[in-house]
Amino acid sequence: MAAPRFHELEIAAVRNETPDAVAITFAIPDDLGDTFAFVPGQYLTLRADIGGQDMRRSYSICSPLSEAGQRTVGVKHIENGRFSGFAQTLKKGDRVQVMPPQGRFTAQIGGAHDYLLLAAGSGITPCLSIAKSVLAGEPQSTVTLLYANRNSSSVMFLDDLNDLKDRYTGRFTLTHVLDEEIQEIEVMNGRLDAPKLETLAEHGLIDPKSADAVYICGPEPMIRSASAAMAALGVDEDRIKFELFTPAADAAPAPAPKPKTNGATHGAKVDIVLDGARRSIEVDAATDTILTAAEKSGLDIPYSCAGGMCCTCRCRIVEGEATMDQNFSLEPWEIEAGFTLACQSRPTGDRLVLDFDDQ
Ligand code: FES
Repeated sequence: MAAPRFHELEIAAVRNETPDAVAITFAIPDDLGDTFAFVPGQYLTLRADIGGQDMRRSYSICSPLSEAGQRTVGVKHIENGRFSGFAQTLKKGDRVQVMPPQGRFTAQIGGAHDYLLLAAGSGITPCLSIAKSVLAGEPQSTVTLLYANRNSSSVMFLDDLNDLKDRYTGRFTLTHVLDEEIQEIEVMNGRLDAPKLETLAEHGLIDPKSADAVYICGPEPMIRSASAAMAALGVDEDRIKFELFTPAADAAPAPAPKPKTNGATHGAKVDIVLDGARRSIEVDAATDTILTAAEKSGLDIPYSCAGGMCCTCRCRIVEGEATMDQNFSLEPWEIEAGFTLACQSRPTGDRLVLDFDDQ
């Protein structure tokens, strides 16, 4: 399988979801139907030149599997976020560079299961795709969704969620948890953290132990807290799925490269195999990762988050050795099999060969 590449897609529709969030629908031409096939829970990476800077950000698909010929993503504006601010200006007919669906926070549709979805803020987007796809594609399955927001005006996809409640009575349960707005039922007020989840379980509003899978998506502290709560409530680790997404990185500058080498590697020669071609670059491991060195050399390698979270930059070490600054996405078996993340990798010797085509 080849490394993912960008395709220019036309925007078919833009819908305001909240005062600071939009749903952007891309038209998928027939000849790109297979390329943009997806599994519920995956995301698209968008790319744009913003103020002379090549920027890219990943946004989860909120469309259900049944929606043919288009893919919709939800984009919430982050304060000082250059890309999310740019996204709010997009309109029907605009064309945007989009990478095919990626990501491992997925639900394979089929069978009969009880799903528990825990979402906060724009973390609803992959959960909405999963909920819609499960309810339509698994007639015996149930979905319980806890959705946390500051207040009712910051709830994204409210019409879609209410529609699911009406259409799938008895199979879809939705509970809103609001932090800055008092609801009648006390337990639904506050943050969706470990104490709240334990209280909700005590009140019988959720039953994590009987869930076949728990999907958690939101800011990192919420994910950490909710995952710990699920484990404490008896959910096996392999039934807890979460996705780190990085709104903070949208506003923050890229972290400075850290010198982290196992030896002197000034000017290591690194060969990069990509799309069947081989190019050599020099990488000073004290100052650059493979990604930053490739960018300096004008070599366009696949990436999205640049933070070790998304796996878009995954490649295989064919020769030599490298160390990663951080890794939130590769599984132990992948590291054993020689895979690494180019956005986090630095050579530890003077010679390294990386293959992006060997996926
Ligand atoms: S670009 Fe996301 S892990 Fe490297």
